[in-house]
Amino acid sequence: MGLRRDEFMNKPVIGIINTWSDLSPCHAHLRDRAEAVKRAVWASGGYPVELPALSLGEVLVKPTTMLYRNFLAMEAEELLRCHPIDGVVLLGGCDKTTPALLMGAISMDIPAIFCPAGPMLNGKWKGKTLGAGTHTRKYWDELRSGNITQEEWVDLESRMTRSNGTCNTMGTASTMTSIVDAMGLTLPGASSIPAADAAHIRMASECGSRIVEMIWEDLKPSDILTRDNFLNGVKCYMALGGSTNAAIHLIALARRANVELTLDDMDVIARQIPVLTNIFPSGQYLMEDFYYAGGLPALLSHLSSQLKLDTASVSGRTLGENLAGAECYNEDVIRQLDNPVCEGAALAVLRGNLAPRGAVIKPSSADARLIKHRGKAIVFDNHADLMARIDDPALDVTADSVLVLRNAGPKGAPGMPEWGALPIPKKLLAQGVRDMLRLSDARMSGTHYGTCVLHIAPESAVGGPLALVRDGDEIELDVDERRLALCISDKELEERRQTWRAPSPRIDRGYTAIYQEHVTQADQGCDFDILQNGQRQPEPEIF
Ligand code: FES
Ligand code: MG
Repeated sequence: MGLRRDEFMNKPVIGIINTWSDLSPCHAHLRDRAEAVKRAVWASGGYPVELPALSLGEVLVKPTTMLYRNFLAMEAEELLRCHPIDGVVLLGGCDKTTPALLMGAISMDIPAIFCPAGPMLNGKWKGKTLGAGTHTRKYWDELRSGNITQEEWVDLESRMTRSNGTCNTMGTASTMTSIVDAMGLTLPGASSIPAADAAHIRMASECGSRIVEMIWEDLKPSDILTRDNFLNGVKCYMALGGSTNAAIHLIALARRANVELTLDDMDVIARQIPVLTNIFPSGQYLMEDFYYAGGLPALLSHLSSQLKLDTASVSGRTLGENLAGAECYNEDVIRQLDNPVCEGAALAVLRGNLAPRGAVIKPSSADARLIKHRGKAIVFDNHADLMARIDDPALDVTADSVLVLRNAGPKGAPGMPEWGALPIPKKLLAQGVRDMLRLSDARMSGTHYGTCVLHIAPESAVGGPLALVRDGDEIELDVDERRLALCISDKELEERRQTWRAPSPRIDRGYTAIYQEHVTQADQGCDFDILQNGQRQPEPEIF
């Protein structure tokens, strides 16, 4: 490779795991950022080595990136195990890449910094603010109801996504990068810097200098991550009005770190911390505005009375020290605790005979009319059935019906795709209906909205009660009481269970077969059971 021996001898070897690819627009700039990391590693007395990894761009991976989150987590861990690496900078940011890279790094437990890809710039169309994902869905409905033309739709799309970087809304990407920033796994405030800003290049370079220092300090994820860091992360999640996907990823991360964290912990915190971040889909602004308003440090300073400030971080300082001097420059974008963005919380954990191990809903993006609702079920047995029948003019559906989708969970789909915001039937769209109560064992994109009960556990494919719902059954949701009920007797439910037969796994080869065998349910983080057991794997023998 043309290196002189003294260029690398006796220097810490810094891995740069890069999820750049030509099929990941969110990560289009990460090749350049790897160069910025490298130049700082060299300058700081380290030896940088770049390691490409699965890119997982949300928009172009079929059937869902969630199927491959665990693949990337394993890849990151094994890349670090099998190569002579002393510390690592993780380049990612699109939804699943943040939890995946960190799950791997936590299990490997060598010094690690997460370098977030950063959000894309604001979208504007005809004077209106447009947010990636949120407005895709909104205007898709307008296109389907004939209120905008195909030409307008194409024009709108190009103006919504103006630069490289992750979605400019509070989707899963910004939710997860902000949470791990609050947990101390990025340089302080790094998650809010827009991808196209020169400050983003400087942040990447700073990751390079800091990781070399972390080697000499031997500062590892296990020295940073405690239950308090995770609880800070959950508090940040609620104040962000973040994506429901975070509930799954946080549990997966906690289990890798041997920290106890449950859905119930999140529900308790969701009742205490309102949405303070005025960003789509819960609010009105975008990530670029959030950055100008002071970004994550400003949000955390508004939240500081609720946080444990003595938690450690990759900066080598505590969270409290990292927040010194943080200021908010726009109190409409980043609200104070006594002036939340909306009534509803970012998350509510539901239970009942339909979801014995829990389900989630995002009240902050649901219709107030449906927060307490009882209606008759229309059941779709799988996604193909949904797509075949949802727009059928003969479908017996009203705005009060409850749309139910099953076989869309971790094992059933497989991969738990973002099918949970079931489309509103075309004939109801034409009548002006824009939200309905929807239920599934699937997930929902963090950029989407609606009264969607998600992550029902256990999922239908393993015999969860969702498998037993029939057309016309009454279903009752009461978010205030955290209740989700199938209104039939226990006896009837039991009788139906006797006749239920498990669907056979649809795929019996390759990675997907392994996935279906080992994936856990949503309340356990959907990690593989063989990766969650907290055992340290021995170092490979060298000879
Ligand atoms: Fe990559 Fe939204 S598609 S962040
Ligand atoms: Mg997403």
